[in-house]
Amino acid sequence: MKLIIDTDPGIDDAMAIAYAAAAPEIDLIGLTTVFGNTLIDQSSRNARFLLDKLNLTVPVSQGASWAWGRDSHRASVHVHGPEGFGDVTDIPDLGKNHHMPAAEYLVEMARCHKGQLTVCAVGPLTNIADAIALDPAFSSNLARLVIMGGAVFCRGNVTQHAEANIHNDPIAAQSVFDRPPETVLVGLDVTMQTLYQGSDFDALAKQSPDFGGFLRDISDFYLRFYQDIADQDGCGLHDSTAVIACSHEDMFETVETGVRVVQDGPSVGRTVPDPNRPAIKVCQDVDAVGVVNLFTERLSSLP
Ligand code: RIB
Ligand code: CA
Repeated sequence: MKLIIDTDPGIDDAMAIAYAAAAPEIDLIGLTTVFGNTLIDQSSRNARFLLDKLNLTVPVSQGASWAWGRDSHRASVHVHGPEGFGDVTDIPDLGKNHHMPAAEYLVEMARCHKGQLTVCAVGPLTNIADAIALDPAFSSNLARLVIMGGAVFCRGNVTQHAEANIHNDPIAAQSVFDRPPETVLVGLDVTMQTLYQGSDFDALAKQSPDFGGFLRDISDFYLRFYQDIADQDGCGLHDSTAVIACSHEDMFETVETGVRVVQDGPSVGRTVPDPNRPAIKVCQDVDAVGVVNLFTERLSSLP
């Protein structure tokens, strides 16, 4: 399965990119970067660092610096740390970005691999909305779009109503949901079931001393956030769960519905079922143990 991950790395993004590198059924052909957990230049630098660490020579195409209708962004340093990798801050700036900006790169890859390419969006949907606006054929050229985002039947994580990726660009999210390719929405409804605890990271670091050790080092910050804010032992495998949904859809239970994104007021960014909009597959439940075990099994194969 040919895959591009649109990402704002980010601690759980790093885990998802590592999973994609380790999964034999995934042919990761590139990363596109977006603002979100980090500022855009940090997202791209972190993406290039991860690919180098994973010995993957695939392009990183840089995308949006901020949301539709805005002219700045403030990174979620309280969740992902000052450089996007928790307490690990000395991230080298390796290599260069692809010459094409993300929206153009996505359109070009969807055209080149017509009907074969899956895009997994694990940050704000700005680049995806830009690609749909750039090329009316983008949606039909894609095999599928799998999105980590939303909280359709459960509470949010940025506010009680809204999940971070949607909250970061509600206008772009609605634009994607209103002109969707074949789409699966992997929201907090399922990613708050696929939890990974400190002991899981410790065990992973024993199996994979280099990359697993790096993930353990960067996840301490993330685990402290979950403990302090949500009084929860363990962090959600948000982005990895979405990547796993790309190839293991049978591990998820979905319902087909249109989705409205609240655009203002205290519940801005909330994702609400709306039968009057184009239907997408919204994940309602998941084989959480199966997803966590598959994640651990694949990551354990890394050096
Ligand atoms: O709400 C979780 C999502 O927001 C994940 O993609 C995480 O990386 C952040 O981007
Ligand atoms: Ca992310």
